[in-house]
Amino acid sequence: MKFFLDTANIAEIEEAASWGVLAGVTTNPSLYAREGGNLADFHDHIVRICEIADGPVSAETVTLTRDEIVAEGVELAALHENVVVKVPTMPEGLAATRMLAEKGIRVNMTLCFTVPQALLAARSGAAYVSPFIGRFDDISEDGIEHLGSVIAALSNYDFGHDVEVIAASVRHPQHVVASALLGADIATVPFGVLEKCVKHPLTDRGLEAFLADWEKVKNS
Ligand code: G3P
Repeated sequence: MKFFLDTANIAEIEEAASWGVLAGVTTNPSLYAREGGNLADFHDHIVRICEIADGPVSAETVTLTRDEIVAEGVELAALHENVVVKVPTMPEGLAATRMLAEKGIRVNMTLCFTVPQALLAARSGAAYVSPFIGRFDDISEDGIEHLGSVIAALSNYDFGHDVEVIAASVRHPQHVVASALLGADIATVPFGVLEKCVKHPLTDRGLEAFLADWEKVKNS
């Protein structure tokens, strides 16, 4: 499973990229707003992320009709070769995804919750399908169970193009574990979750002991 960062925060992306494990980035309008982003700087911000992240960078459309979504998508895709256009799973989004795919533009279908939505996203030509986990948990449904159903259903078919499943709305390392065991291609995680994934108290305790013993070696 590859790790994407789910953020629009430049410092977080730089830090994760410096670890050598960052395969891509996903953003959304809420994440950009959280950074205090304004409309005038949006395209520059996406380009900046593309220059740091060596992989696909999802930039989301914010219009509701197929023609508007396609126009937005074409503009976003022209910003940088790493841009993947993120389109919400809805009828106009499916139509737009088909049109963008026919232009050779990669689409990540987002706000995907169910198996039928994921199948339709894949049929529309989406290169990435993003089932949300945490938002199911928020309404007392099992997000991981839904993710498993999506992965199992998609694996039954050949869509004639590559479709990668991005486990999204990841809230903690246990979501990462479960996504990997289910065979998700990618987990897109907030920076805090990535940090928690690399940390373990036994690692800290072991390192502390190794360094203390090395001091004895040096002083012997
Ligand atoms: O980027 C989409 C998704 O990962 C959002 O997660 O935590 O807002 O449900 P969350």
